[in-house]
Amino acid sequence: MAGVVLSEVYKRYGKVEAVHGISLDIKDKEFIVFVGPSGCGKSTTLRMIAGLETISQGTVKIGDRVVNDIAPKDRSVAMVFQNYALYPHMNVYDNMSFGLKLKKHPKDVIEARVNEAAKILGLTDLLKRKPFELSGGQRQRVAMGRAIVRKPAVFLFDEPLSNLDAKLRTQMRAEIKRLHQKVQSTIIYVTHDQVEAMTLADRIVVMHDGYIEQVGSPVELFQKPANTFVAGFIGTPPMNHVQCTLNAKGDTISCQGKFSLPVPPQETALAGHDCQTSREVILGIRPENLSVIDSINGNAPDSWKVEALVDFVEPLGSETYLHVKIDNISFLARTKGTTTVRAGDNVPLVFNLKQMHLFDATTKQALF
Ligand SMILES: Nc1ncnc2c1ncn2[C@@H]1O[C@H](COP(=O)(O)OP(=O)(O)OP(=O)(O)O)[C@@H](O)[C@H]1O
Ligand SMILES: [Mg+2]
Repeated sequence: MAGVVLSEVYKRYGKVEAVHGISLDIKDKEFIVFVGPSGCGKSTTLRMIAGLETISQGTVKIGDRVVNDIAPKDRSVAMVFQNYALYPHMNVYDNMSFGLKLKKHPKDVIEARVNEAAKILGLTDLLKRKPFELSGGQRQRVAMGRAIVRKPAVFLFDEPLSNLDAKLRTQMRAEIKRLHQKVQSTIIYVTHDQVEAMTLADRIVVMHDGYIEQVGSPVELFQKPANTFVAGFIGTPPMNHVQCTLNAKGDTISCQGKFSLPVPPQETALAGHDCQTSREVILGIRPENLSVIDSINGNAPDSWKVEALVDFVEPLGSETYLHVKIDNISFLARTKGTTTVRAGDNVPLVFNLKQMHLFDATTKQALF
């Protein structure tokens, strides 16, 4: 068992720098998820931990060893890829035991470990089957089994579920979570799917363009995003963002001259607003904190309401998305259940300002 520490880690491919000096302290037995858009450096970082890419600068420690110059096979890590590539001519048992045989483990040790892994993964009855006789999810489990039998200190997963259909993904996601509870190892898991990240992680690392934007528990990232990138990336549908001006006094935002909203007094104090000059900000409000009048109890202050035009309505059954406009500024509101509101209706849009976020328009960093 081991934690993993990255200190000022860089990756350069010739003149291209893919990872710009990231530092991260992953605790023993922690389930860490790297999330971020395509090309942000997730796989590169994981591969540097695995030893499949050299580290251009900085150090990676696994347990108490710096592993920069240690071969992948000696790092006590096991990696599960998106394309798990089982050996097609070998049955499940042989696929899972192959690595241990190469390492010349005794036969009885191999048998015990494969049987144990098969039990954890529900593969016991499938050990004699060949990969072509398995479903996608079962094959993915065999790939995980290959990693488990090695008893690594750290599991590395690179988008292991992205080849599976939506239903199977949800099922396998639960199995991976259960697996973590059973094997009690450190897991570093890469995905670009924020729902997967939210449901699996103890802590999420949000990456963007080779930098770490924020590290925190799913709830922390959701409630206190450090900047507009994290705010827009975590949460579905994403947070609404509108450019506004915060007045000198710090008690009102004016949104492009179209409408104004009050800012709760304690919030601007937190933001360190100087009360001398106005400043450009970005208002962030999640769809669930916007409601049209038919979906609230009617006790919001009048100053939180703005007349809006319903552009279109998306009923999803258990909830409804309302696309509304205040002049030319679009918002997405999300309401539980169904609604009687129709496209073309004029509705009072209620901003739940207790849940508002403000970001600096230039730095994009959260003011609160
Ligand atoms: N061998 C390479 N040579 C040059 N550039 C590379 C190489 N491998 C990756 N890159 C670049 O490094 C950056 C990070 O790539 P990486 O594969 O880590 O992204 P990712 O976050 O895993 O994306 P995805 O979600 O698409 O898998 C990208 O801009 C990519 O083009
Ligand atoms: Mg990748």
